[in-house]
Amino acid sequence: MKAVLKVDPTQQISKIDERIYGSFIEQLGRAVYEGIYQPGQATADENGLRKDVIEAVKKLNVPIVRYPGGNFVSQYKWEDGIGPKDARPKRLDLAWRTIETNQFGLHEFMNWAKKVGTQADMAVNLGTRGIMSAANLVEYCNFPKGSYWSDLRRQNGQETPFAIKTWCLGNEMDGPWEIGQKTAYEYGHLANEAAKAMRAVDDSIELVACGSSSMDNPTFGDWEKTVLDQCYDNVDYLSLHRYYGFYGDDDPNELDNYLGKNIDLDEFIKGVVAICDAVKARKRTKKTINLSLDEWNVWYHSNDQDAKTKPWQQAPHLLEDIYNFEDALLVGSLLITLLKNSDRVKIACLAQLVNVIAPIMTNDQGVWFQSIFYPYMQVSNYGKGIALTPEVEVPTYKTREFDAVPYLDSIATYDKTQNELTIFCENKHQTDSISFQTLLRDFDVENVIEATQFYGYDVKADNRDGKMKLQPLTATTEPHKVMATLQPLSWNMIRVRVR
Ligand code: AHR
Repeated sequence: MKAVLKVDPTQQISKIDERIYGSFIEQLGRAVYEGIYQPGQATADENGLRKDVIEAVKKLNVPIVRYPGGNFVSQYKWEDGIGPKDARPKRLDLAWRTIETNQFGLHEFMNWAKKVGTQADMAVNLGTRGIMSAANLVEYCNFPKGSYWSDLRRQNGQETPFAIKTWCLGNEMDGPWEIGQKTAYEYGHLANEAAKAMRAVDDSIELVACGSSSMDNPTFGDWEKTVLDQCYDNVDYLSLHRYYGFYGDDDPNELDNYLGKNIDLDEFIKGVVAICDAVKARKRTKKTINLSLDEWNVWYHSNDQDAKTKPWQQAPHLLEDIYNFEDALLVGSLLITLLKNSDRVKIACLAQLVNVIAPIMTNDQGVWFQSIFYPYMQVSNYGKGIALTPEVEVPTYKTREFDAVPYLDSIATYDKTQNELTIFCENKHQTDSISFQTLLRDFDVENVIEATQFYGYDVKADNRDGKMKLQPLTATTEPHKVMATLQPLSWNMIRVRVR
């Protein structure tokens, strides 16, 4: 089979906001405790932060990390996690029905974020709490000094403000599972009032309002419209969440359909964009609301196990999906979909980062990488600069859910500062290789910097044995062309120097 990707420096989707390669740490399961924080573990520093995890996260080059939830935040009192550790209360976490010791809180997270080289995407509780607790948190984090909350931060050891720029106004407030679920009107009104108070403290912050926690929720569409009607002028982004897996009656051997699920994400994103723009038109405003896909991933492997987990444990094994090779292929094409929508998706968080539906797993001895680590690591490190409009010639196939899934997913990004063009491409054909050409109209190719392929594993194989590796790919060039043979079921990256 043959496939062609044509790119041109003048045909641009958008400058990529690198926050689309964000991730998520929730106070849930072993994400924090035994994940990023484990006093006494062999690599833990004086603050209990695991250095092996810090090094692993650095490999992923994560620009922003959402914290502290997730469902957890909708019943969380952030003040429980500050001040002397021996005075912090142990609480019931009503979201996940575990015991939260609060030994890890805001300062510990911000210290970890600094070490990892990332910024925070801080969520406030709009489930069981409201306007003033959110505004107080902004004051605590961002106000220089001379007020109750800013001086308390200084007293707790942080003289300069944390200067957190991005804030989430609650989490999944449309979800029946959420503690403090609201109707769209109730939430939109509360989000607007909280936004006003938070911005009164610091008008440089950016705010994300909750959109739908799934396109399958019956309120999808109406929720977005009603919420934005209430808070459009005071927020910057609308969120959306999407997880994939074999759910309900799905046949776990339906690989062709599974690998087409990035089409669903594309439709979801475009649907939310359409609603944002409809509200914009009705409001006759020049302001555009962009999107934060602040939770996305595969999540289904651990569901049965989690249903059997006893409640009220500290840091139990929860949501510990073990990812296989087909999951890595799906994550690869979801990343390409994100890049294709980078004109409107400005923040996205792979949910999550460590132990909980995560690319990085820990045990007492060390860390290991799941299959999904590899495509995420490559796109976050090299998908920089500008996303170029992909003009693709490739056959498609039909599945139960999708009429036309292209056998090849592909996109190129152009980093002008490095004269580097990176091509991400995935062959979804189960038996045939693809003879792939990228035609680079006004680019002159100098040389191949790096070319890798990720392939050859059983689709149900995982990486617990550590055998999964990126392998070299042979890519050849002509002045305006890059060529490679893409193996069946393969994720590939080709980096070339251009003039
Ligand atoms: O990421 C796991 C959970 O998924 C989050 O807590 C919640 O927001 C979503 O339902």
